[in-house]
Amino acid sequence: MDFTIDQLMDLKGKRVLIVGGGQGNGEATAHVLATFGANVAILDLELDRAQHVAKDLEARGVSSYAISCDVLVEDQLVKAIEKVDTEFGPLDSMVCIIGMAGWAQITDMTTEIWDLDHQRNLRYFFWAAREFAKRVIARNGKANICALASIDGIRGSAVHASYGAAKAGLIHLAKTMAIEWSGRGIRVNVVAPGSIITPRIPEGTQASEANMNAHVPMVRRGTTTEIAKAVCFFISDLSSFVTGQVLAVDGGYTANGWPGMMESMSRIKVGGTMGVDE
Ligand SMILES: NC(=O)c1ccc[n+]([C@@H]2O[C@H](COP(=O)([O-])OP(=O)(O)OC[C@H]3O[C@@H](n4cnc5c(N)ncnc54)[C@H](O)[C@@H]3O)[C@@H](O)[C@H]2O)c1
Repeated sequence: MDFTIDQLMDLKGKRVLIVGGGQGNGEATAHVLATFGANVAILDLELDRAQHVAKDLEARGVSSYAISCDVLVEDQLVKAIEKVDTEFGPLDSMVCIIGMAGWAQITDMTTEIWDLDHQRNLRYFFWAAREFAKRVIARNGKANICALASIDGIRGSAVHASYGAAKAGLIHLAKTMAIEWSGRGIRVNVVAPGSIITPRIPEGTQASEANMNAHVPMVRRGTTTEIAKAVCFFISDLSSFVTGQVLAVDGGYTANGWPGMMESMSRIKVGGTMGVDE
C-alpha cells in the first residue's frame, strides 16, 4: 500500500471555521490546519484578534476570513456562521474552541456562575453545530465538527462543578450529534485537553502547577500545538472512520488511576510482597 501525505491529510482547499480562533488553542489550530493546506476563517469576540490571525494565515499562502460575534447571543452566532458559509465559501469543517471555567465550591456556587458556564461551554456549541449541520445537510455536503471539552468533563473536579458539568454535557451532545448526523455525512468528535499553557493561563501562573504536574505521567503541561494536532486528526481523513469519540490530550493524566504511584514508584521493591513501600 502506498499513500501520499495529501491523500491522508486531505486539507488542501478545505474551508474550516474556528469559533474562538483569536488566540491560544484556536490560533494554534488555525496554523496547524493551514500547514496542511486548509483555508481558515476565524470567528472571535475580539475582531482585532481574529484579523491578526487571519493576516498571519494569509501570509502563509492560505485564504482566511475574520469575523466578530458574541457566541453567547444566538442571533449573532447564527448570522455569523451564515455569513462565513456564504462569503468565505461553503464550510467543510468547524472547530469550536470557546470555553471557560467559573471557580467555586458547589456550596458557594451562584446560579449566575452555573448559567454562564453552561452558556459559554455548552449552549453556544449546540447553536453553532446545529446551524452548521443544517447548512451542510441542505447541500448534501460532507463535513467534520470538532469541539474542545476538558478532562474536567470526563472526571470530577473540585471547584469546577459548573464547568465540568457543561463539558460533560458537550461530550454527550457531541456523541448524539455523531449518531444523528453519521448518515448525513457529518462526523463529530471532541478533544479533551488537560492543563495547557495558553496566553490566558501562561506557564508558572497556576498556584498548584508543580503539584498538578507531579500527577501527570508526562510531568508537564501541554502546548496549544499539541491540542491543535489532535484537532487536525479529527478534521482530516486520518480519522475517516471515527465519530462520537473523545480524545484526552493530557500527558496521561486521566489514564492514571493511582496518582500517588508516580511518587512511590522509585521506592517500590521489584517483586516484593504486594510491592509494599519500604
Ligand atoms: N488552557 C487549559 O489549560 C485548558 C484545559 C482544558 C480545557 N481547555 C479548553 O480550551 C478552550 C479554550 O482554549 P484557550 O484558553 O486557548 O481559549 P481562550 O479562553 O484564550 O479563548 C479563545 C478565544 O475565544 C474568544 N472568546 C471568548 N468568549 C467569546 C465569546 N463570547 N464570543 C466569541 N469569542 C469569544 C476569546 O476572545 C479568545 O480569543 C476552552 O474550551 C477550554 O475549556 C483549556
